[in-house]
Amino acid sequence: MNLTGKNFLKLLDFTPEEITYLIDLSAELKEKKKKGIRHDVLTGKNIALIFEKNSTRTRCSFEVAAFDLGMHTTFLDPSASQIGKKESIADTARVLGRMYDGIEYRGFDQEIVEELAKYAGVPVWNGLTNEFHPTQMIADMLTIKEHFGHLKGIKLAYMGDARYNMGNSLMVVCAKLGMHFTACTNKKYFPNEELVAQCRAIAEETGATITLTEDAMAGTKGADVIYTDVWVSMGEPDDVWASRIEELTPYQVNAKLMENAGPQVKFMHCLPAFHDLNTKIGKEIHDKFGLDAMEVTDEVFESPQSIVFDEAENRMHTIKAVMYATLGGAEK
Ligand code: CP
Ligand code: NVA
Repeated sequence: MNLTGKNFLKLLDFTPEEITYLIDLSAELKEKKKKGIRHDVLTGKNIALIFEKNSTRTRCSFEVAAFDLGMHTTFLDPSASQIGKKESIADTARVLGRMYDGIEYRGFDQEIVEELAKYAGVPVWNGLTNEFHPTQMIADMLTIKEHFGHLKGIKLAYMGDARYNMGNSLMVVCAKLGMHFTACTNKKYFPNEELVAQCRAIAEETGATITLTEDAMAGTKGADVIYTDVWVSMGEPDDVWASRIEELTPYQVNAKLMENAGPQVKFMHCLPAFHDLNTKIGKEIHDKFGLDAMEVTDEVFESPQSIVFDEAENRMHTIKAVMYATLGGAEK
């Protein structure tokens, strides 16, 4: 498998074999890291990290992974650079492409990261857009594989806003890898029809299924994984909170839902999660809307079925694999 020079913008661009290769490569690199075996095969390379939205996991994963591979990083936050303000994406891409070996971009529309990739001349990695979060998918799949031993046939129920980056990306990766994806939410939050049709066509080849349901109990019955994400994503206005809470509360991940799924079920969340009042936003939302206004209860989040911190750790190992593969580490 040779992915050298390839962009990593969305999983629709990758074959099931390529995705599986990245998951397996991540496991190999994770083992090397745990055993203290050096793997700084990309020494001398430089990468740029563009973040137009906040991040803990993704930024730290890119930085730690880059250092482990021997690379140097430059972090560009939106307040300091010219990107998208004084300078177009195409010009930014051509400048950074002359200086760096790879570019990570986290921001708004998918078309921005696609434009960056078109002009950069070096691999571009999508660190989250409104539409897709592909590096998160490799981490999630590695985590599921570690806990269940396989991916094909796994039943994953996604609760909450399924029209956005996480719902879209999980539907795509499940379709690609022959898994059973259920978007379990108010129909207003179902993923867009065009993407559903595209995923169903992929599913016909892989044995996956794509189900959309408003029935929380039927949708989660027998699920291996119940997955959720914040009800209001970065960049969305604060005034959507009230309607989100009203429409999504029936899809909150709580003990009743987990029990309904069965003893095999694991809880996953890309994080950051709203599950207690230990954050500023948590307190504000609680004061305004009451305690039930969160996507997962603290009880489930802190339960033994919750594998969210395995998932978070795997962001680093999998982002490392994406950079290693696209920057030619495998050829060393
Ligand atoms: N899951 C994730 O992308 O987290 P960050 O926003 O902290 O990067
Ligand atoms: N849907 C969330 C994911 C965060 C990792 C957001 O876009 O804010």
